[in-house]
Amino acid sequence: MKGIILFTLLTIWSNVDCKSCSYSPSQWCTSLDSAIECGVLKQCLETNATKPNTLEQSVQVELYYESLCPACRYFLTSQLLPTWTMLQDAMSVTLVPYGNAGESFDGKKYQFTCQHGEEECLGNMIETCILNVTGSNAFQIIYCMEASTDVVKAGEKCVELYDPTTKWDSIMTCVKGDQGNQLMHQNAVKTGALKPTHNYVPWIVINGEHTEELQDKAMSSLFALVCSMYKGSKPEACSTALMKRHRSYCHDE
Ligand SMILES: *[C@@H]1O[C@H](CO)[C@@H](O)[C@H](O)[C@H]1NC(C)=O
Ligand SMILES: *[C@@H]1O[C@H](CO)[C@@H](O)[C@H](O)[C@H]1NC(C)=O
Repeated sequence: MKGIILFTLLTIWSNVDCKSCSYSPSQWCTSLDSAIECGVLKQCLETNATKPNTLEQSVQVELYYESLCPACRYFLTSQLLPTWTMLQDAMSVTLVPYGNAGESFDGKKYQFTCQHGEEECLGNMIETCILNVTGSNAFQIIYCMEASTDVVKAGEKCVELYDPTTKWDSIMTCVKGDQGNQLMHQNAVKTGALKPTHNYVPWIVINGEHTEELQDKAMSSLFALVCSMYKGSKPEACSTALMKRHRSYCHDE
């Protein structure tokens, strides 16, 4: 094993002009001088450029969806999460669970009606509270729920799995209380403010913009879209064989 690593290092070193380089590899990118002297300036700048996920560079993906819509579940599980897994340094994701729901104010709190019934309203609310309570683990928890047969029922297990420090009770307190009600109202306002007005879900907004072209591209390969729109130097994943898609089928016997 050590032999293989050493051999690999030697192979890399021998490809770099190190004649007058007095720095060890771990120092190459620590200063402009060492990068130039060691002939690795281009590589160092590229490495540095892909690291900070600066807001201007990263591709902002917003998903407006509802918890039980099959097309939303498909996009979330087969496009959004895999892409985010590969390209999370190059993108930021905002989830807004509300979709085609409606709201009315009864004098005390908002009442919501959902396209796929009560169960969907509950799913939306659980996911909204997860986004508020669990922070950076929320995306994986919601993926876990949306990939399950029973979205709502899976909630507790998914939280346990991806954020063991969060108590399910704290999610349900949010779901049943004023906080959840207010947060869902914010989702309603945000969804209602979309321009153009959404008329289906999943509704995808890229860098603040929704067009049919962007929507189609995101639906067919979000990965390729994020790679093409990312303004920093391309993440390595973008240049690998992933772009080559093989079509394969399972045929009847
Ligand atoms: C790379 O980033 C580090 C830390 O931010 C910085 O100190 C260094 O100068 C950068 N290197 C180059 C070659 O720009
Ligand atoms: C959670 O919701 C509260 C309002 O109920 C808000 O003040 C807080 O910033 C939210 N936190 C996150 C992480 O969204």
